[in-house]
This record gives sequence, structure tokens and C-alpha cells, in this order.
Amino acid sequence: MTAPSITAQAADLLGEDLRPEGPVMRPKPKRLPIAQALRACPHEAIVAAQDRGKPVAVAVLADGSTVVLPDSCPHDGGLLSDGFVEGNAIVCARHGWEFDGHTGQCTHRPNLQVPCSVLAAGSGPVDS
Ligand code: FES
Repeated sequence: MTAPSITAQAADLLGEDLRPEGPVMRPKPKRLPIAQALRACPHEAIVAAQDRGKPVAVAVLADGSTVVLPDSCPHDGGLLSDGFVEGNAIVCARHGWEFDGHTGQCTHRPNLQVPCSVLAAGSGPVDS
């Protein structure tokens, strides 16, 4: 007979089920239609949206500019909409690379750029 595993022994001592729960599945982000995202995106925030079937991210920068960009980080494909806005930069949550919100240029790798469309420079979220 083999000795019980450390996990099984700990479970016996604690009286709890310590089995691993399996892979953590992240829910897909809820993508707003782009018109709705442009109205709903708070100041200094980024949200997931959909533009003609394509996943995009809508961000409102610190200076009030509203920006639309592809929702995929050029580094390793992380969702930029999972990131955050810091000043006028968009930060990918996956590894922390920053992109200028106006030009899309990466601060870590200046030769990398995300195509950004600045829809409303300094005017903040679009009102309906
Ligand atoms: S995937 Fe965005 S920084 Fe790595």
C-alpha cells in the first residue's frame, strides 16, 4: 500500500476537500456595441467593444480623448480591454506594456505600435 499524498494527509487533518479545482476559465469580456461603448466608457477607463464584428477596445484618456484600438496587444495577444488607462497611456494587464493613447506607440518597444483612432481629442466620452 502506498502512502497517502501530502494533499490527502492535509485534507484528513483539516477535514476539507483539497482537490484542485481544475483550470481557471476566465469569462470572455462582455463586448458592447461600439456606439454604446463610446457613450458608456468612463473617464480614464477602457472597455471591450465590438465594431462590425471585430473586437476593439474603447478608452477615454486622462486628457478626455476617446480612442478606439484593436483589442489585442502586439506583445502576446493580451486583451487591451483587460488593462487600464494611466494618464494618456493604455497599459496591457498581461505584462504591463504601455502604449501612448494618441499614437499607439509602445513605450517598451518604440518600434511596436497599436493602430489607434482618436475619435474625440480632449472632449471626453461622446454624449448621446
Ligand atoms: S500581452 Fe500585452 S504586455 Fe504582454
